[in-house]
This record gives sequence, structure tokens and C-alpha cells, in this order.
Amino acid sequence: MTDKPSEAQAANRLMRLAKEIARHDRLYHDRDSPEISDADYDALVRENRELEAQFPHLVRADSPSTRLGATPAGPLATAHARPMLSLDNAFAEAEVEEFVARVKRFLNLDESVAVAMTAEPKIDGLSCSLRYEGGQLVLGSTRGDGAVGEDVTPNVRTIGDVPHTLRSSRAQSRDAGTGGRVSTSLDTNGGGIPEILEVRGEVYMSKADFEALNARQEASGGKVFANPRNAAAGSLRQKDPSITEARPLRFFAHGWGEVSGPLGDTQFEAVKRIESFGFAVAPLFARCESVEEMLAHYRAIEKARADLPFDIDGVVYKVDRLDWQERLGQVARAPRWALAHKFPAEKAETTLEAIAIQVGRTGKLTPVGRLKPVGVGGVMVANVTLHNRDEIERLGLRLGDRVRIQRAGDVIPQVVENLTRDEPRDPFAFPDHCPECGSEAVSEEGEVDVRCTGGLVCPAQRFERLRHFVSRGALDIEGLGERSIAEFIELGWLHSPADIFRLRDHRDDLLGREGWKETSVSNLLRAIEDKREPDPARFLFGLGIRHVGIVTARDLLKCFGTVDALRAAATGDSGQAELSAVDGVGPIVAEALVDFFHEEHNREAVDDLLSQVRPKPYESKSRQTEWSGKTIVFTGSLETMSRDEAKAQAERLGARTAGSVSAKSDLVVAGPGAGSKLKKAEELGIRVIGEQEWAKIVAETGV
Ligand code: IVH
Repeated sequence: MTDKPSEAQAANRLMRLAKEIARHDRLYHDRDSPEISDADYDALVRENRELEAQFPHLVRADSPSTRLGATPAGPLATAHARPMLSLDNAFAEAEVEEFVARVKRFLNLDESVAVAMTAEPKIDGLSCSLRYEGGQLVLGSTRGDGAVGEDVTPNVRTIGDVPHTLRSSRAQSRDAGTGGRVSTSLDTNGGGIPEILEVRGEVYMSKADFEALNARQEASGGKVFANPRNAAAGSLRQKDPSITEARPLRFFAHGWGEVSGPLGDTQFEAVKRIESFGFAVAPLFARCESVEEMLAHYRAIEKARADLPFDIDGVVYKVDRLDWQERLGQVARAPRWALAHKFPAEKAETTLEAIAIQVGRTGKLTPVGRLKPVGVGGVMVANVTLHNRDEIERLGLRLGDRVRIQRAGDVIPQVVENLTRDEPRDPFAFPDHCPECGSEAVSEEGEVDVRCTGGLVCPAQRFERLRHFVSRGALDIEGLGERSIAEFIELGWLHSPADIFRLRDHRDDLLGREGWKETSVSNLLRAIEDKREPDPARFLFGLGIRHVGIVTARDLLKCFGTVDALRAAATGDSGQAELSAVDGVGPIVAEALVDFFHEEHNREAVDDLLSQVRPKPYESKSRQTEWSGKTIVFTGSLETMSRDEAKAQAERLGARTAGSVSAKSDLVVAGPGAGSKLKKAEELGIRVIGEQEWAKIVAETGV
């Protein structure tokens, strides 16, 4: 490139270079079959480096310059342009009615207003995002953790249902009589193809293809899959695309991610438009005008289920109007505008052969029932969670009992009934000592769970805490799997999370050990070094504090900004009250945080960890506005929007919302009926405005 490229051109080129270089890395390192000369490879790397130097703010998370020389252990990670969300689940019709009512409440619509929804089968496969640029397939990725997936581009290219080139819907209708010639004519309006389009959908295997594949696998002594979903997942995530190609995978489109121009005004129109580009859309995709129609369509799909050529596990409803979807937004990882209505659980009967006790990362003793293996809804089940001591008592479980178990969707199988409860037998004696370390196991007053008191002395707890700390949702240290953690604990190198960052001191010892080579050691140590400045929410989540999941961790950091500030609050005089006031944090989480940070060995472990790593300050994903970081309190009733929508707007402005007024509040939005909070705001001299003025602020800030 001679002239300086535009920013858009540079971003585009950097993306392509990242993919391209990654592909050559894989060909070179993983498959020993480079396609280009070293000189050509170096030229790509140089071009990438020069572009990055010109546009430092465009350096990508998956930039080749941060990864050069590394052999990616497994498939390459790729950040999604827009997150791949999951769905809230419902089982009962009443929950569907509640969902529709919730949507209306959020949008502040009268109960009598009809909210049209689409309803379609929930395909039991694995979600996949296909990115098209200029009508050409450039990237295929799995969902991963929703933010970052795996690049499976060569594999998705082998799927017959995945077009490599999009078909223009206008060209299609014009060319219908000439055999539907493929056209790539670009046009963001009307029937043309958007310049950028990410089609989201489900990769699956048909029931018949699954049976045939398993028969072939069995005959050749290969892996036999438990169900079509596992077969599809195993086939898509192959390192070698020729294996994927030999597996009969299919794809149904059901949505989209990033798109450069609107696809329509409604979900229904947009999906139809995607269909016109050459995608398959699952049958029984419909638009419903009312809850009654939605439930009738659910029943129709349930009735058709056995005859469908592919597995489904429920029905997905989506608010049809896209402007409403936009207003509804998302909470945690699921949109407020969609719901998965799952089919009832499948049940089976078998024998309880043993009860094993597992020790979790918080020391909780969890009883696990070992069963005579039995098929439930297409999956062999050999283990069930028994939750806790009370559950065993409630069911009157004893070894040898016949039990009825059930499995619903992705939920862990459970015992729903003991079929031999009336026959006298010795009751199961729940252990009063930890089976792993022998420490006393106790349950605190009012708690059902029994916990090992061994803390970090208990190898099971140490192992689980370390495993959690490096897991995908937490620090995500690639290459530090269960086996390595166990090995390093055994060697005495790992006691606490901070020790992970001291593993580099054991480099030479590690190189001398069986199974470790120069590349694997370098990769592991590099993956660890990469996490010296971790995302603060992942770091906080990784500490394994009870009740603090990733979403709560984000809520906390949104409010406190840094882990240090949070710790100061938790150990301060009014810690409990200050933490409980954070939106999304209740008294239980607040208490868990206070307890955690008051415990001496936890403080030491965190200090030790902070001597090794420096979590980044929290960065709000929402835009920077004059409201960023400010605290807003809503009180009284609102007329044109619901309280939840107002809160969501405040968050989009970058502000936090709080449930109570204090000296730290910056603004109070008061509607009719506002009482003590309004009074307190006036006493404290905090700015108070009405709903209309609030709506004006939101409109003017343009979020
Ligand atoms: S929509 C923003 N529609 O179910 C909403 N998902 O449990 C994103 N799935 O990760 C999902 N069939 O992989 C949608 N018709 C359908 C679906 C579907 C299957 C999967 C999808 C998602 C998972 C959530």
C-alpha cells in the first residue's frame, strides 16, 4: 500500500492479515505443511506490523504481533464483533405468559397491547457465527464464551448448507428462470447484500446421518457419539477440516450479529431476508400475534418433534419488532427480548449403586449418585447430583434403591423419585470428615451444605480453586489444564494462584520432565505472562468468592472501578451497607465479600497475587458521556417507561444506578409518589429532575 489507507481499509486489512497469518501459523506449526514461502510469510507479518504502527488504536485482540512464534494450542480464538448471547429458559406456560408481561412492562406498554413474537424450534446443535464481507465468507466461529469463540473457518466451509458466496435476493428472483445464477451484486438497500453480515445459527447433524455415522464409527473402531449434538460438536471442532468434511453437518440460520445495514424492521422479515441470501431456515418458523398463538405454535412443534429429521429441545420466542428488541437490550448474557421454552424433562428408571462425595472449591461436600447407566433422552447417564445431605434425606436414598431420574436440556440429571423408599434399609451416613483431607466437615447454622474446614490445606479445595482461577471464564490461561495443575501441586510448585506467576522460575525443571518440550513450556509460560494485566472482572470472579459470578463481578467493578477499591469498601466500617447498595448486589453477596476479605489467609493470598499481577481498571463497554461514572437514583413511578428501562438507559449513558440516596448520589429522577428518597435528596442538596427532563437528557446524549 503506497498511500496511507483509510481507517476502515486499515481495520479491514488488519482483520484479514490476522486470519491469514493465523492460518499460515497453523499450517506451519500444527500440520507441518506450509503453503507459502518464508519470505512471503515475513512480508505479511511486516505489512501487519507497519499498519499497526500507523494505526496503534486498531491493534486487534488477536493481533499476530502479540502472538508471533506461538503455536496456538487448539483452534484459534476469535473475538466476536457482537457478543453471541444465550437464552433464558422457561418450562411452564405461566413462565411464557410472565415473559410477555415482562416485555410489556419494560416497554411500558398497556397490557392490552399486542406484542407480536416469532416462534421457532430450538435446534439441538451448536451455535456458529458466519461472517461475510462483500458477500464472501471470511470467518466461521463457534460461540465459545459468547465474547470469544474458536475460528473454525476451514471446517464450516465444508458444510453444504453454508454458502461461500451470498446470493443477492434480487438477482435470485430475476434469475429464477435461469437456474438461479449466483450473483454477488452489492447493495445495502432493498434486496442487496450488506457489505458486512454475520449470520448466526446452529450447526447440527440430522438424526439419520447421526445413526449412519455411528454405525460407520463402530465398524471402524472409531469414537461412537452419545447424540447428534455431540457428534456435530466433535465434527466441527476438528483440527483437520477433511475430517469435518467427511461428517454430514448442516446449518440453520436463526439470527445475525454485526451487519452494516438494516435487514428489516422485524425479526421475521430479517430472517426471511437472510434466507433469501441462500441460507436454510428451520421449518415451523412463524410469527405469532398473542401468547395464545405462541403456546399453540409450541404445541404444534412439540407434536411434530418426533417426525422432524433433526433433534430439537424446545421453542424459541423473539419479540418481532427490532426497535423493541433494541430498547429491551440484554441482561447478563441473555436478551430480554427472547425466551427458550423447553420441552419437559425426559425420565428413566435405574438403580443407585453408590454415593460418592466430591469436594468443591469452596469446600462444599457434594454427594454424587453413581447409577447403573441408563439412556435418558438419547444420552447415557451414569451420575446424578444429589445436591446435599438434606436431599438424600428428603428422598430417603439408600444404596441399591430403584430411582426415577430426569434430564432436562443441559441441566445436570437429577433424581426425582425414590421408587423403593418404603423398604427398610440402613440410611446413608453422610460423612462428618472431608474424604480428601480428613479435616472436620461441618454445616454452619441455618445452612444445608456441609463444608470441609481444611481451607487451602485441603488438596481438593486447592486444586479446584486453582482450576477455577485459570478457567475460561476467569483468567483463561490456555495450556494450564487439570493435568498440569495436578502435576505442579504434586511437585510443590503450586499452592496458591500467585504461584502460577512464579512457574517461570521452574522453567528448566519443567523442561526436564516427561511430556514437556520447548514449545509446550514456552507456550504455557507465555500464556501466563499474557495474563499479568488481567481483566478486573475475570480476576475478581477467579478469586472464587461465594456468590460472585462473572456478572456480579462486573456489577461490582462498574461501581468500584478497581479490585483495590472494592476491597477497601469490603473491609471498611460500612462495608456491608455500601456493597448492598450496588445495583445487582444483595445482602448475601455483600456478606460473602465482607467475609472473604476479612479472612486473613484470603487477604494474604490476594496481596500475594497482586504482587504478581495488576488487574486493569474496569472499562465500561458503554460510551463515555458526561454521565460516565455518575450515580443516579430513580424513585417514584415513571409514566413513559418502566423503571428497568430507565435503569438500562442510565447504564447506556455510562452511569450507575443505586437503590438508595446517599451523599454519593449525583442525580435523582423522581416521579409521582416519590417519598423518603426525594426528601433525603433534597436534604442532601442533590439535583432532582422529573421524568421528562430525564428523557431529554437521554435523547440529547444520543444513546
Ligand atoms: S437465538 C440472541 N434461536 O440455543 C439469542 N438460539 O440456549 C441467541 N439455539 O446459544 C439465540 N436454536 O445456539 C436462537 N432458533 C434458535 C435457536 C437457538 C438453538 C441455541 C443457540 C443459543 C442457545 C441458547
